[in-house]
Amino acid sequence: MSPRRAKRTDVDIENTRALEPKAGGTGAKAPPSPGKTKAGADGNELKAVDEVLSHYPAEEPSLIMVLQEINDRFNWLPPEAMNRVAGALDLPLAKVLGVATFYKALSLEPKGERTVKVCLGTACHVRGAGMLVDELKRSLEVEVGRGISPDGAYSLETVNCVGACAMAPVVVVEDNYYAHMEPGNIAKMLKKERPK
Ligand code: FES
Repeated sequence: MSPRRAKRTDVDIENTRALEPKAGGTGAKAPPSPGKTKAGADGNELKAVDEVLSHYPAEEPSLIMVLQEINDRFNWLPPEAMNRVAGALDLPLAKVLGVATFYKALSLEPKGERTVKVCLGTACHVRGAGMLVDELKRSLEVEVGRGISPDGAYSLETVNCVGACAMAPVVVVEDNYYAHMEPGNIAKMLKKERPK
């Protein structure tokens, strides 16, 4: 059975600009050390951070917008960038990390070009979403919420109900909803979604 591209629903967690808090996402956690990450912010990237900072007043209310723009540019929030933001906005690093940890749309882990999201809501769970997670972990060589596939293309996340229970189990890649997924369809879906 081939993966069916589902009609896009009204619920699109990736594209919403309203930042949603992460489940249990309170408090700061230490960012990954540069040595453990695929790519930290180098000199050029710090220039990009400075450019983002220049778009906003150097004050605390700018924090979320600054973090969102940096996350959009790098696809994550490198530790060096967090230090830069804390210094520029005259905020404790713990405050910056607390906000970065709280919102789903912000990531303290490097991500692949595409994030594969498996719904683990009740309807998807009872229809075998766990097996999809296992197959994706195996084929992408990543853990949920951690790591990038060896080709740099993919990261893996699980999400709560995406509002498409009739299509369960559902996998979402960027704007595309894949309905009634089975482990045997994963390879075909990844091939289709691979960044050019
Ligand atoms: S539980 Fe997966 S879409 Fe609702």
